[in-house]
Amino acid sequence: MLLPNPAISPASSDNFQPDAAKQALRKQIRQQVRQARQQLNAEAQNQAAKALVQQAQLLPELQHAQHIALYMSNDGELDTAPLLLYLQQQGKTLYLPVLHPFTPGYLLFQRYNAQTPMHLNQFGIREPKPDVTAIMLPVQLDVIFMPLVAFDAQGQRLGMGGGFYDRTLSALPKTSQKPLLVGLAHQCQQVETVPTEPWDVPLPLVLTPEQLWDFR
Ligand SMILES: Nc1ncnc2c1ncn2[C@@H]1O[C@H](COP(=O)(O)OP(=O)(O)OP(=O)(O)O)[C@@H](O)[C@H]1O
Ligand SMILES: [Mg+2]
Repeated sequence: MLLPNPAISPASSDNFQPDAAKQALRKQIRQQVRQARQQLNAEAQNQAAKALVQQAQLLPELQHAQHIALYMSNDGELDTAPLLLYLQQQGKTLYLPVLHPFTPGYLLFQRYNAQTPMHLNQFGIREPKPDVTAIMLPVQLDVIFMPLVAFDAQGQRLGMGGGFYDRTLSALPKTSQKPLLVGLAHQCQQVETVPTEPWDVPLPLVLTPEQLWDFR
């Protein structure tokens, strides 16, 4: 691909951003937003997690969904525990991401219930112990709730920087209704614009404790 040479681009070509500048901006947004959410106190986190369950109940696609992937929160992320409990009570079949044991950088979605043996993965996040009989392909899932660091007004998503969700979901057809990707975030994680890369998988929906953002 031919990129414009910054030395000869007109100063007004404002959508041109050298890659290094874009990476620096992505890094800066990650730092700022992670810091903001880490500063939420336990009471605020508690309220947010409960409010999220209320918001989730307003999502019709969730009522009709059976196979739903969630994740275990860390780093000041919105606590998914009350949502997980609610979905279990609704009789949904739940899945958690596990780091792919043979293909670095990819996730597998593994069935999870209260009896599932768990361990800490290399990032210190609780995940089910590998069990090949409990793996579900992303296309077989109805809804995938996704963590994120920042989202913008177009539903663009910035994660922690590992590219795990981007890689794992890259093979999904763009127009497919299934699985429905739903980002979960505190409202303080919304930014004006996420500088995107071609591999970033956008979010049709983002659920915050305050509202449902529909970017479809
Ligand atoms: N589909 C893909 N194939 C190969 N490499 C990829 C793919 N998607 C992302 N990557 C690589 O992963 C790295 C991190 O990507 P990115 O900064 O978008 O992570 P992220 O979206 O913050 O993370 P995550 O997806 O885990 O939430 C990039 O260097 C990129 O090259
Ligand atoms: Mg990305």
